[in-house]
Amino acid sequence: MCALSFYHMKKLFIVGNWKSNKTIKETEKWLHDFSDGFNKANIKLGDKKVIIAPPFTSLEHAHYCSGNLKLSLEFAAQDVSPLEEGSYTGEVSARQIKELADYVIIGHSERRTNFYENGEMIKKKITISRQYRLTSILCVSDLKQIHDAKFMIHNSNCILAYEPLSAIGSGLPDTPQNAESVAAKIKEIVNDAPVLYGGSVTSLNVNSFTKMPSIDGVLVGGASLDPLEFLNIVQNA
Ligand code: PGA
Repeated sequence: MCALSFYHMKKLFIVGNWKSNKTIKETEKWLHDFSDGFNKANIKLGDKKVIIAPPFTSLEHAHYCSGNLKLSLEFAAQDVSPLEEGSYTGEVSARQIKELADYVIIGHSERRTNFYENGEMIKKKITISRQYRLTSILCVSDLKQIHDAKFMIHNSNCILAYEPLSAIGSGLPDTPQNAESVAAKIKEIVNDAPVLYGGSVTSLNVNSFTKMPSIDGVLVGGASLDPLEFLNIVQNA
């Protein structure tokens, strides 16, 4: 038997984080444009999982349109309440999210910086996500943040996303070699959980990251807002 037949393609996660962008109408247009491009290019996803994280206001409609368009998209929330549902004005609970998404982004550096999320808060969010069978996509910008959450990660269904602060939204991605070396260290700490790279990923550089042995996909911010650019990222990954 040919040795190549023992080689398994790794599963790749391509996650688009829209952050605080897009109205419901714009969400619908994104999905239609993505679907047109997808069908025209006759893309086969194979082992690629494509996940989008629209804002809460668009999540339900994105889910609905994706079903109508028969897209094989999966969904993530961009955040989750650390508490069960109840009298917590403004919060969206894990139980509510589970109706629309299977993933939740936790601990993004923009939340850590702008909304003062600390390790304790992040642990609560991982715990409640696990309770409702949501897969956490835990963002970390350094190895210390991984060590802080290590125990939680071991006991949960967790994907890690390594996002160096200087690379986020700057157009200055990390080098694939450095991202690979950090991803390999993260994998050692978290029992081989999938590790994504995030920070200024585009259709032109995505493959330099996804071809690295310890990198299992990408978390894309700005470039995911344009459906055709995101489609190119999916294709080139
Ligand atoms: P960016 O954002 O792709 O716009 O750099 C990445 C992120 O914040 O997840």
